[in-house]
Amino acid sequence: MKKCVQIAIDGPAAAGKSTIAKLMAEKLQYVYVDTGAMYRAITWKVLDEGVDINNEDAVRKLLAETDIVLLPEGQVQVDHVMVTDAIRDQQVTKHVSQIATYEQIREELKERQIVLANSANVIMDGRDIGTNVLPQADFKFFMIADSGVRAQRRHKENLAKGIESDLDQLEADIKKRDETDANRVHSPLKQAKDAILIDTSALSIAEVVDKMIGYVLK
Ligand code: CDP
Repeated sequence: MKKCVQIAIDGPAAAGKSTIAKLMAEKLQYVYVDTGAMYRAITWKVLDEGVDINNEDAVRKLLAETDIVLLPEGQVQVDHVMVTDAIRDQQVTKHVSQIATYEQIREELKERQIVLANSANVIMDGRDIGTNVLPQADFKFFMIADSGVRAQRRHKENLAKGIESDLDQLEADIKKRDETDANRVHSPLKQAKDAILIDTSALSIAEVVDKMIGYVLK
């Protein structure tokens, strides 16, 4: 059986990974896997059920009985409930990086991500895909952008979606999340040695997509 093609995209918060990954997936006819949505989904459920977020074992037990489905159009379901917008709200965004520090949560989600990666050609985005989840990926990208640019982009995105958004607060939150993600013990945010660095600060979406597709089709 031919091995599925794997494209890994990692990078800090709001660097444009999901926008670019979705467009690339469309062009290449690959499946897009948003691993951040999986971390957000379990965070949403922890908050929704009032589970103690500081109790790793309780969070692990909750995840073991939680069904997370990423639908083709980008919608996310938790136990058959549509949570696509709910997982992007401020409370989830504020707490997700704490949950993502938990080793047992990372291990469980990694297993689920590997199953997805073995079932189709995938573009998977996250923080540790090239370093930890798919170390043998065929293509690895590490996408960065200036933090001010990232905050501006997310601010616009939020407003377009009708999500409450304060630019200064957003920039502070993004910096804090990056710091937690880059400094955690288990599979921190880091550029894989063999990943191609893409700085999107001064590039349009179309330019980034063209550049990355160029590497894949070369
Ligand atoms: O889209 P945005 O950049 O806001 O973040 P996301 O991709 O939705 O990821 C939300 C959070 O999940 C990140 O800040 C990380 O704490 C965590 N995450 C992770 O630890 N590992 C991944 N592979 C994906 C996300």
